[in-house]
Amino acid sequence: MSMKVGIVGSGIVGQTLANGFVKHGYDVTIGTNTAGKREELKSKTNAKTKIGTFEDAAKFGEIVVLATKGTAAEAALKLAGIANLKGKTVIDTTNPIADAPPVNGVLQYFTAQNESLMERLQALAPDAHFVKAFNSVGNALMVNPRFAGTRPTMFICGNDAGAKREVTAILEQFRYETADMGAVESARPIESLCILWCIPGFLEKSWGHAFKLLRP
Ligand SMILES: NC(=O)c1ccc[n+]([C@@H]2O[C@H](COP(=O)([O-])OP(=O)(O)OC[C@H]3O[C@@H](n4cnc5c(N)ncnc54)[C@H](OP(=O)(O)O)[C@@H]3O)[C@@H](O)[C@H]2O)c1
Repeated sequence: MSMKVGIVGSGIVGQTLANGFVKHGYDVTIGTNTAGKREELKSKTNAKTKIGTFEDAAKFGEIVVLATKGTAAEAALKLAGIANLKGKTVIDTTNPIADAPPVNGVLQYFTAQNESLMERLQALAPDAHFVKAFNSVGNALMVNPRFAGTRPTMFICGNDAGAKREVTAILEQFRYETADMGAVESARPIESLCILWCIPGFLEKSWGHAFKLLRP
């Protein structure tokens, strides 16, 4: 029996990860909050992918992926049903990007420096095991990226060691090396990495890069 992944969020990240998980043999349901989007999702996801609501995806997943707009993440969790996340690993791909435009290529966040969106989400769903991942790289590089002779680093964090092991195994399949940066508070710098990652994109239209942590 393949492991079930429920994806709460139907944008390019939700679609990309849905296709990536199917490619790696997982059983996937993707959830949208917009009933009229189901046909579009059928055409953009693998035929094996099931399509439902946020709640359907959260109920279905043994592992849940949160891939909504940052400003909507808390509302999306409530729509998904906090009780449906109890005891589950929740891979949090979101970034707290404000609706205001970037300043000289620097994204603006609605969170302050000494907090993070994932801390808010963990407080909202205390029985879920949040793991920050996939937020500091573009969607085109999320699944099996090709960099000559090396794998990029995915920075992760979260309070539950078992959940982080589960996500590390997934990242291994997705051809990433993982750097575990600690507990939920480390989402502060990991979410900020998205701001840094986007600067070459906004200033030079260059989006093909990824981070690598070099160790001695
Ligand atoms: N794009 C990237 O390359 C990238 C890379 C790394 C991280 N991220 C992060 O990943 C997340 C998803 O990004 P994305 O580019 O795929 O798309 P997005 O446009 O940021 O999010 C799309 C999802 O958000 C939901 N949503 C939007 N407003 C909502 C509201 N008011 N209430 C409930 N749900 C709402 C949409 O619902 P419907 O299903 O109803 O449309 C859809 O499922 C973001 O937090 C982003 O910062 C993106």
